[in-house]
Amino acid sequence: MNTSTDSTNTVNAVKPTKSVYVARLLTDTVTHELGSHTGFSFEVGQEAPPSRAELLERVAGRDAAIVTLTERIDEEFFAAAGPSLKVVANVAVGFDNIDLDAAARHGVVITNTPGVLDGATADHTFALILALGRRIVEADRFLHEGRDWVWGPRMFVGLDISAGATLGIIGLGRIGLAAAKRARAFDMRVIASDATHPLGTTAEGVEIVSQEELLATADVVTLHVPLLPSTRRLMGADTLAQMKPGAYLVNCARGGVVDETALIAAIDSGHLRGAAIDTFEGEPHVNPELLSRPQIVVTPHTASAGEATRDRMCRLAVDNVLAVLDGREPLTPVKAS
Ligand code: GLV
Repeated sequence: MNTSTDSTNTVNAVKPTKSVYVARLLTDTVTHELGSHTGFSFEVGQEAPPSRAELLERVAGRDAAIVTLTERIDEEFFAAAGPSLKVVANVAVGFDNIDLDAAARHGVVITNTPGVLDGATADHTFALILALGRRIVEADRFLHEGRDWVWGPRMFVGLDISAGATLGIIGLGRIGLAAAKRARAFDMRVIASDATHPLGTTAEGVEIVSQEELLATADVVTLHVPLLPSTRRLMGADTLAQMKPGAYLVNCARGGVVDETALIAAIDSGHLRGAAIDTFEGEPHVNPELLSRPQIVVTPHTASAGEATRDRMCRLAVDNVLAVLDGREPLTPVKAS
């Protein structure tokens, strides 16, 4: 971790020709690699996100910016950057923090980090499924509280994952498929709903069904859709009510995909047995109601937080910037739909 007390660090300040603002400290490995890119000057921020005022001030006159999902990249940002800005590289596969229309108006290329975090995100999803089903967090807290206990046949009984439980995946993209692979290895039946796949069974053994059938059938529903106007609050009171009684919900996508108030009501009524949430509606604020329910497991948006994965994400963002500033095609551009 960088221990500098300056508000920024300059890496490789030798005869800079292209100036890149990096809004957050990247991983150590990739930060060290910045020094080898001659002809580029990288001004790197701190571990914590910059304030809005700092972000707008620092990006002024840059050729490129590397940002994360904590930075809102909008008309005001592009206006503050000015006409020199060619590319904004998001260190995330999701890009709901970026106004693509504003980027297009300013002629700025936007890139994200698809493909390098599928395994890590699916691992985390599956860790949450196991934690929920087998009540790992509840049981861990129970022992940490120093309670008296003796083994009993009714103690912390949960879902038999590998005895015919059905996983329902909403959004069968790269991450959804990686989650399906893990579920199949645990002998789960895997069904998915995704408008881009025809109904039937995929080569990976995933049965594509309608969303209604998925919600009515799955013991565990996991969400892997991007946050778009069409997916905002996809899981609201109506869709949660369509879920099989006693089922679980897992969200490692974006907080805005779930109506948290409706989710809490579904847990309190006993309709759902539990939920695991990695991303929150008002992130980084976490609704305290979520924290007071033992059936809800929470993690702080860490689904892709594997060491090598985070290096790959940061490196891909840097490589996208280098490509665009060198006049080459970006590796992973985000295309406005
Ligand atoms: C993380 O949430 C990402 O979109 O990569």
